[in-house]
Amino acid sequence: MDLLSVTDLGRDGLAEVLATAAAVKADPARVAGRLAGRKVGLFFEKPSTRTRVSCEVAAADLGAVPLVLKQDEVGLGKRESVADVARTLDRYLDVLAFRVFHHGDLVTLADHADAPVINLLSDLEHPCQALADLQTLAEARPLAGATVAFVGDGNNVCHSLLLGGALSGVSLRVASPPGYAPAPEIVERARALAAPGVAIEIGEDPQGAVRGADAVYTDVWASMGQEAEAAERRRLFEPYRVDERLFGLAGPAAIFLHCLPAHRGDEVTDEVADHERSRIFDQAENRMHAFKALLLHLAG
Ligand code: CP
Ligand code: NVA
Repeated sequence: MDLLSVTDLGRDGLAEVLATAAAVKADPARVAGRLAGRKVGLFFEKPSTRTRVSCEVAAADLGAVPLVLKQDEVGLGKRESVADVARTLDRYLDVLAFRVFHHGDLVTLADHADAPVINLLSDLEHPCQALADLQTLAEARPLAGATVAFVGDGNNVCHSLLLGGALSGVSLRVASPPGYAPAPEIVERARALAAPGVAIEIGEDPQGAVRGADAVYTDVWASMGQEAEAAERRRLFEPYRVDERLFGLAGPAAIFLHCLPAHRGDEVTDEVADHERSRIFDQAENRMHAFKALLLHLAG
């Protein structure tokens, strides 16, 4: 089984991975050595801090051997075809975890490798991030019936949160500038998969989205690879900055979430990022616990 989209886990699989992640966090020793001798390849076509380190540590804690591969060495689709990279690595590795620009490359890898392929972020989704996001939200309140406001770009992180939330009973209100809403096919899929009671609202009004929400989530205005659009985006996204005034419209116990890295002063102010109800570093920590749970699910 692969994890290209968070929906690949299915409703029960997702609930199981989140339960394992919580159990692993509470008692890391219980899974130590559980994947002894397995080899986990971690490939990066874009920069990474959290994903690279949390996945490497997670694999090592489980007794697996993490191997970090970089685009300048592998040359995915340049030095050789994506299919041949998959066929080759499949002979050495038990898990192929890839961060790529083009989601289609993950599909090609999965088509040509028997080992599980894990999406470590593509232009379309960031499913491992959604696992940590849901784990962090579940630490604050039950997922079923929760409402998250996502303010900003309807990007990869937003897509996986919409889909994972829909499977977990979490309603999403997304507010983006015109032209930057999440992809219609993702919204449609999330609605089709939505657990009973889940509402998915896509709009342009940040105040309306945040009002009474249980969590407020934002991400960078320009994702990796969109650096050339950064100035134009900064102008358009200005009204979508999560500051104390906007965060103050959320519920009294609302938490603040961000996948990080944050561009403080752009999509979020220091006051909100460092707020007593900000959970951004718990989220970063949970990437490690969630990845352990995922490895156990896919390769255990
Ligand atoms: N949240 C996240 O994926 O961070 P990195 O890009 O640092 O891995
Ligand atoms: N949306 C961001 C997330 C980084 C973790 C990006 O793709 O760059």
